[in-house]
Amino acid sequence: MRIWNIVGLVATAIIALALPIYAFNESNRLKTAQADLITESIKQGQIVYAQNCAVCHGIAGEGIGTYPALANPGVQGMDYDLIFKTIERGRYNTAMAAWSVKEGGVLNNSQIDQLIVLLQQGDWADTSRAVQVLGFTPPTAISVTVSSEVLAKLATLPHGAVISRTLPLYSAKCAGCHSADGSGTSIAPPLNSAALRDKKSDVELQRLIANGVAGTLMAGWQQALTAEQINDLVSLVRYWGEIPAGTIPKIEIPIASTDAGVIAAGQDLFGQVCATCHNTNGQGKRIAPALNVQSFLKTKNDQAIKAIISQGVPNTRMPTWAGRLSEAEINNLVSFIRSWEATAPEVATPPGQQGRGPGWATGGGGGGGGQGWGKRFWQTLGY
Ligand code: HEC
Ligand code: HEC
Ligand code: HEC
Repeated sequence: MRIWNIVGLVATAIIALALPIYAFNESNRLKTAQADLITESIKQGQIVYAQNCAVCHGIAGEGIGTYPALANPGVQGMDYDLIFKTIERGRYNTAMAAWSVKEGGVLNNSQIDQLIVLLQQGDWADTSRAVQVLGFTPPTAISVTVSSEVLAKLATLPHGAVISRTLPLYSAKCAGCHSADGSGTSIAPPLNSAALRDKKSDVELQRLIANGVAGTLMAGWQQALTAEQINDLVSLVRYWGEIPAGTIPKIEIPIASTDAGVIAAGQDLFGQVCATCHNTNGQGKRIAPALNVQSFLKTKNDQAIKAIISQGVPNTRMPTWAGRLSEAEINNLVSFIRSWEATAPEVATPPGQQGRGPGWATGGGGGGGGQGWGKRFWQTLGY
């Protein structure tokens, strides 16, 4: 009989010993399973991010143009419900659309969850590699670099500290439209003028840069830049007069090519993605203005056309193309559009009169039925 007692004791001892080991293994197993799940979510999230979000928020969550950065402690620490709602429903009246299928978007709840894991626990360097491998790198916005010698020279001016600190930011975000030396381009007014300094107070400039000007290419920057950065830009405009003329070189990078192959590639792409609104040869439709017309081609240089195509026209039907089209593709489009200049008419021909128009107008079916088409007729339709 005693033998059973001993067996019982031994068995109890074994169980007593085994239980913690089992528990230890089990918690490790759970931890590993959880880590695997997170890794897998991040991997899936990177694909969804590359396809849908990188175009505005950047391959490393750094933000592009006026679109805000996501790689920051604010988003990492954002309450789960709030971040879910932001992606699910979007932000009213901004470019941040509602993404959930329920709200008319393209993402299901588990994809949104994967994005949240990515945004809050992912590694942005790793994500940027994944986005590049997947081939979703948006083309870089037009930006200019100012040499360190020029910056050092500027630092000696009375307000040199803020001027030299802010010029690189200006060059990256604003110069594409307002030009490197602030003298303006065919699409945006000068920022270096005494008239502007006299006309606008600091508060007005601050509001202008933060909120933009509705219905123009000037978008609001308050999401993309910090309050300090916007104040620095106000100071740059305020003290621009201190910068001696000619210090900042005015760089113009030619974009359009006259190569027949490049123009043909541009024509092909234009037919696929632009002609629905602008007509086959850019003669315009009711929904969108003519581009094949001297009044447009003479007043817009290549940079300007490229900037409009890349960034779209805020609050109109003209979409942002950066991200959907590569930089090379946008350059091809500019080349095709520029190739019209030699033969473009002075005034756009009404689509309804195409039969009687010059040769360029016979390419496609016009949208209008002979209604009073003015040069800016589309504007009266509220586009
Ligand atoms: C067309 C451009 C665009 C795209 C594409 C886009 N966003 Fe946004 N997103 C914005 C803008 C603009 C805001 C700022 C909205 C505002 O003013 O509150 C924003 C805000 C956000 C915010 C809130 C950030 C904060 O600090 O409050 C999150 C999170 C976010 N987006 C995630 C995403 C995700 C995930 C995707 C892809 C599914 C995506 N966005 C796609 C433009 C975009
Ligand atoms: C995509 C082109 C574009 C970009 C990029 C851009 N702007 Fe503008 N900006 C414009 C246009 C167009 C106007 C004129 C708006 C109007 O018609 O009132 C303008 C107007 C302004 C004005 C008012 C000028 C005046 O005479 O009233 C200021 C100041 C300004 N921008 C600052 C900036 C700053 C600072 C940046 C960079 C953070 C910037 N802009 C980026 C296109 C742009
Ligand atoms: C969904 C319709 C639509 C599509 C597609 C479209 N556009 Fe536009 N585009 C517009 C509208 C509307 C405007 C006028 C915006 C405004 O109110 O200033 C415009 C304006 C422009 C302008 C500025 C014209 C001017 O007079 O300042 C250019 C350049 C342009 N589009 C090029 C293109 C190119 C290139 C494509 C193809 C990659 C394209 N657009 C696709 C609707 C469209």
